[in-house]
Amino acid sequence: MTNSKSRYQDLVSYYQSGKYELLRKKALEFINNFPDHYNGLIILGISYRQLKENHKAIEIYRDLINRFPNNSAAYTNLANIFLDMGELDESIEYYRKSIKIKDNDCNPFDGLGLAYTGKGNLEKACEYYKKAVEINPSFERAHLNLGDNYRKRGMYKDAIKHYELTNYKLSKSQKLECHYHLNEIDGFYEELNKLAKQDKLNSLAACLSTHASQRFGVDNIYPFCKNPIDFVYHESLLNEDDFDEDFITNFLEYISINKPDFMSQNLLNKGLQSAGNLFLRDDIVIRKLKKIVNKKVDDYKEKYSASIEGVIKRWPMSYDLYGWVIEIEKEGNLDPHIHKEGWISGSIYMNLPENEGTDEGKLKVGLHGANYPDDGKIYQNKIIPIRTGDVVIFPSSLFHETIPFKINEKRVSFAFDLMPK
Ligand SMILES: [Fe+2]
Repeated sequence: MTNSKSRYQDLVSYYQSGKYELLRKKALEFINNFPDHYNGLIILGISYRQLKENHKAIEIYRDLINRFPNNSAAYTNLANIFLDMGELDESIEYYRKSIKIKDNDCNPFDGLGLAYTGKGNLEKACEYYKKAVEINPSFERAHLNLGDNYRKRGMYKDAIKHYELTNYKLSKSQKLECHYHLNEIDGFYEELNKLAKQDKLNSLAACLSTHASQRFGVDNIYPFCKNPIDFVYHESLLNEDDFDEDFITNFLEYISINKPDFMSQNLLNKGLQSAGNLFLRDDIVIRKLKKIVNKKVDDYKEKYSASIEGVIKRWPMSYDLYGWVIEIEKEGNLDPHIHKEGWISGSIYMNLPENEGTDEGKLKVGLHGANYPDDGKIYQNKIIPIRTGDVVIFPSSLFHETIPFKINEKRVSFAFDLMPK
């Protein structure tokens, strides 16, 4: 028993150090010796989830639920995977089952908050996050989520209080954004100076730094990308080996048959966005798309390889690709936004309603958006003349939006982010 205990502790340390391939190997050996070890199986499932082998993780958790129906951990872990995959209703169902068994675990409450955020119910999400930090006041991820929740509702002072209680992910850059919205310029520059010196850069701080430099006519001190408009890559994919009109047809069919859950997105007017990461699907169309995106990401890096900007020079050592679909109806549009968690972002245009000689349906990029205070200044922008079959890639700190169109057709694009690990 001591043996299983100490070897299980080893698995926990592999998990904590983020060495997931080693974790999978060691967890498989462990389960060979202790096939009924509940937490050993949970951690094996976690390694599969981290390595994007979701179907294997789902199998383990379903089996655990059958064999040990009164233990909550498998329910929470299964719900986490459904959440990753954008299957929000399933994730809610399993988080609830977990809480029914054990009502003092902060994780399923935090998960419910994320699932309800996906469904656009921010008030309900807030209640669940509050419950999570009530159970565990030092739960950093839930403080970040609570901060994000208040920020999305314009309650910037409440958001700052929670961002101060965590260093998790973008918490401090989100705090920077709240100072900016509140016009607390001293607090803004104090935070920006700290962030500019950190090893890890992010596109949110970069975007705010560029915006403030334009607004106040001062130096842009954040070393990511001074003017992301100069780093927009645009070309047709129709000359690529793996991409042609048949591929587009297959993709559109795949999306209409395997309908992903579409989630609420308050920037999208008359449009829908798929929930979760489509790259997690192990289907041939998605695998081909991933190959194309990876190649274009390499081409992007190569094209700007002479640049001294952080976006190129400090390219992340390892990253995940995150992909989703956006469908916009006639007269709909996507308001200007950035991808805060991305490093570079892109879109592939699968169907673009084209009205020759107009900018309808095109992509507009620029340095202003998100209702940032603008002091009446005009910020630089540019229209990218995209067509069906094109790809556009740019630093994630660049604002982008779509121009409404009058043709009675759906505008379908596949968007992606390269997200540093
Ligand atoms: Fe976008």
